[in-house]
Amino acid sequence: QRSVSRPLSCPGTVAANFGNEEQPSGGAETGSEDQTLKRRFSEVQKERREQAQRTVLIHCPNNINEKKFLKYLSQHGPINNHFFYESFGLYAVVEFCQKDSVNSLQNGTHTPNQRTEPAIPFKSRFLNLKLKNPSNQIPEQSYAQTNNQSPPSSKKLFELLNYAESVDDQLNTLLKAFQLTEENVRLRHLTCSLIEDIAAAYFPGCVVRPFGSSVNTFGKLGCDLDMFLDLDEVGKLNVHKDVGNFSMEFQVKNVPSERIATQKILSVIGECLDNFGPGCVGVQKILNARCPLVRFSHQASGFQCDLTTNNSIALKSSELLYIYGSLDSRVRALVFTVRCWARAHSLTSSIPGAWITNFSLTVMVIFFLQRRSPPILPTLDSLKSLAGAEDRCILDGNNCTFIRDVYKIKPSRNTETLELLLKEFFEYFGNFAFNKNSINIRQGREQNKPDSSPLYIQNPFETSLNISKNVSQSQLQKFVDLARDSAWILEQEDKAQPSPSSKQPWGLAALLLPPGAVHTLLSKKRKKPVSEKVKSLLASIKSSTADTSKGTRGK
Ligand code: GTP
Ligand code: MG
Repeated sequence: QRSVSRPLSCPGTVAANFGNEEQPSGGAETGSEDQTLKRRFSEVQKERREQAQRTVLIHCPNNINEKKFLKYLSQHGPINNHFFYESFGLYAVVEFCQKDSVNSLQNGTHTPNQRTEPAIPFKSRFLNLKLKNPSNQIPEQSYAQTNNQSPPSSKKLFELLNYAESVDDQLNTLLKAFQLTEENVRLRHLTCSLIEDIAAAYFPGCVVRPFGSSVNTFGKLGCDLDMFLDLDEVGKLNVHKDVGNFSMEFQVKNVPSERIATQKILSVIGECLDNFGPGCVGVQKILNARCPLVRFSHQASGFQCDLTTNNSIALKSSELLYIYGSLDSRVRALVFTVRCWARAHSLTSSIPGAWITNFSLTVMVIFFLQRRSPPILPTLDSLKSLAGAEDRCILDGNNCTFIRDVYKIKPSRNTETLELLLKEFFEYFGNFAFNKNSINIRQGREQNKPDSSPLYIQNPFETSLNISKNVSQSQLQKFVDLARDSAWILEQEDKAQPSPSSKQPWGLAALLLPPGAVHTLLSKKRKKPVSEKVKSLLASIKSSTADTSKGTRGK
């Protein structure tokens, strides 16, 4: 694996979020443990956007000579950063020091003149590099090395986990293996920027912003790319020049509701992407959903994209999660582990349905960490009370104000280990009174459920909504059963931890095994004498199973 190369540091360009040369750290989004982690969300997003605007995506021949390629591109100006990756072919992401270099490159580029299908002329920043003399052989060692954009395989993950030294080490190992890399973050911002170019043909001045797990510090390699078409910048007026008795306004076409406006905007953008978007395939317009969206694959980057508009609360939720993810290093390790655990047991799915979502799981972890003593995370209400005038934010009539400067939040005094927290997480939710209580990170305490949804997690900003309304009773029960099993496995581990070199999956690795394998492991372990502690745990599980089933029958 090559690291991102930085042949030149360009004067006048914004410093990128690198930790050191050898091991590029991801800065804020990838969560490296350096100062950049604590930068403001808006600042990071602004810098990434500007960086993406100076960047091009180039489809290259497989046998490209990296040195010559860079020399060729440097004709247009100094290059700040580049890397290669594979996705149905070889691609290069090239970041110039100046935006002008992109214009210069585009000016020297031509539209293909295909004979059979007329190509729509569109000067995008997604380019094809052709070799004038393709048969020229180059030595294999000068081939460009590629950067991996995929998560580790299960086999690789189990290997890594088995070699870890403790359960805490396992959680941190999992985090490192799955978190977005610096290159992947760049590719996500570049993809949004390329889509923005297409959308801008229709809506000049629009902005396409990434949100969700691509930017909230909880993104796993391979996660989807949520993007939001922001038209607010278009409507912003620079100066009000109301002179004398007159005032002027733009004529606009009126539509019956905001939802209809959203559907119309997404409908035309969907058509645009489908007909003219280079590399955009499988475009689906899902306009009747609660939150209308256009879903498509961006083939060159390999991202599954969900484009929405009029969705600024979701962007604000991403910022809130970013704050929570940046506050304490245990948060991300625990969220990644719970997400991986849920995926391994098919509690979550990439297909929408009655499953629990990653967003809900993240909010559950945050809630659990607010409930520790002393708390590891502050409540949303306390983040609101710390906010200054500049943090004030009202969206669609909802108060979304919270402190945005992480340095103004006191670090937690809690020193619990990740191993303990993981076990307690499973015990806490394995015994949670889901039949009567709801989860609420605004106040950080359980509350009576306002309706009979099996799982009720209050939406942090639109407080009358439940973010897990889709979850069925049977899916919730599956979550509870697996949480109890997992608490039990970790309890067992406490007593007899195999040596790290053991071939037997232990600790977190045992929790990620498919249910069949877990049971074999459990039955092997059950032969050992059961301690008093485990006996009492089993008794508490039994009694709360009776409670839960009573509660569910009552509905
Ligand atoms: P993964 O894509 O699964 O990695 O996580 P994600 O956090 O990106 O979730 P998803 O792509 O499903 O949704 C993107 C963002 O939309 C989330 O981070 C939330 O900010 C928001 N979101 C998703 N589901 C809900 C919901 O049910 N209610 C609300 N209010 N917001 C949601
Ligand atoms: Mg997502």
